Amino acid sequence: MVLWEGRFAEKADALARRFGDSIGFDQRLVAAEIRASLAYAEALARAGLITAAEQQTLASGLQKIGGEFEAGTFAICPDDEDIHTSVERRLTELVGPVAGKLATGRSRNDQVACDVRLYLLGEATSLRERLIELFKAIVDKSEAHLDVIMPGYTHLRRAQPLLFSHWLMSFFWKFWRDLGRLSDVERRTRACPLGAGAFAGNPFGIDREALAASLGLTVAENSVDAVSDRDFVLEFLFWAALVQVHLSQLAEDLILWSTREFGFVELDDRYCTSSSLMPQKKNPDVLELVRGKTGRVIGHLVALLAVLKGLPSSYNKDLQEDKEPVFDAVDTLTLELPLAAEVIRTLKVDKDRMRAVLDDGMLATDLADYLVRKGVPFREAHHLVGQAVRRTEELGVSLRHLPYSEYRALHPAFTEDLYEVFDFCRSVEARDVEGGTSSRAVRAQIERAKALIAGQAFDSGCEHGA
Ligand code: ARG
Repeated sequence: MVLWEGRFAEKADALARRFGDSIGFDQRLVAAEIRASLAYAEALARAGLITAAEQQTLASGLQKIGGEFEAGTFAICPDDEDIHTSVERRLTELVGPVAGKLATGRSRNDQVACDVRLYLLGEATSLRERLIELFKAIVDKSEAHLDVIMPGYTHLRRAQPLLFSHWLMSFFWKFWRDLGRLSDVERRTRACPLGAGAFAGNPFGIDREALAASLGLTVAENSVDAVSDRDFVLEFLFWAALVQVHLSQLAEDLILWSTREFGFVELDDRYCTSSSLMPQKKNPDVLELVRGKTGRVIGHLVALLAVLKGLPSSYNKDLQEDKEPVFDAVDTLTLELPLAAEVIRTLKVDKDRMRAVLDDGMLATDLADYLVRKGVPFREAHHLVGQAVRRTEELGVSLRHLPYSEYRALHPAFTEDLYEVFDFCRSVEARDVEGGTSSRAVRAQIERAKALIAGQAFDSGCEHGA
């Protein structure tokens, strides 16, 4: 159905039509379109613009269309430009000319803005649930491997011993912040553009408060802003890009650590592929794709920022470009979050291998700390241990095998007990500060995480119940 046929003498150019149509992708808004239309019909009835019987007719037609989409029997017609025209055309077929009353004071401009908001709120709820599943996988794995000490890295160079669980829990906190950011996005997404009309407002005395409330939203304050505001989409895309970055960082660690060279972890076969040429290969495809898809999701954010940058006020067709980035970001994360959870759940952790590659150099800081405890200022202690390390290189021995006389020659604060420092477990347990890598501190961290997750599950349960 072409909505503005009356205006033009000529039909639109076929190529221009194909170029402008969004039905190919915005069908995904159908549930939101139906919900918003039901609410709008109710608002029209409330304002006395349609009768209760007409509202009933419109509602049953809309519900039928919803059912057709669900059953996969809805037929898109060649003239359906977008989901709004498609639903309106079908509604007219089903209920006759009264369908045209649903357009009273409503524009596709306020309609589409409302649909995208409702759609995103729905997806946010399921992405939230997927994030919570990822939290659980991280916490369970961390709890099950509290006895694993691994080499910790900075600059990808061996730095200090670390509990494997402490490393893994570091990702819990990143994703936990992402959950909070998602709530922020949701808060600003809950505004209702309906009643803004094309951009100047509704002339029929629609009760926007009641309309917004019936959709669980608050009124978007300014009609010009209401039809053009896509800040919430940008915020969602930023959120998605950041989750991707976190997933990508996790993927990178696991890809590296599952190489033969590191051998710290082994990925489950189900998340790997082999090579068509080299039969020995076990490639971490899933994790590589997680890392790779980060590029496109970041791209979606940048693309929409660029679309919005030079726009004149109110609605412009450019805004149609907001949808595909959102759908793709949603699809990507909808697959990736549960995959990441399963990769973690099925990960084999090689405790002995990690222990075997720890070396005394990673205890150099502990040796400096030993001197500090004997009253040597840290800067001097650092310098002295640096000299000891240099001597180990000259003599071709490790720190624990550097002769006592060598230590004594460096500083009298070195006494026999210095060799007690060469204990990786002791090093880890010494960092018993809140947020440190001692097993007590990591256990406490895990308990806090569990309480937060339980609170979340409870919160969202209440929200759904309400
Ligand atoms: N398909 C359009 C979009 O996604 C719907 C709004 C069209 N509005 C208009 N004035 N052409 O933005």
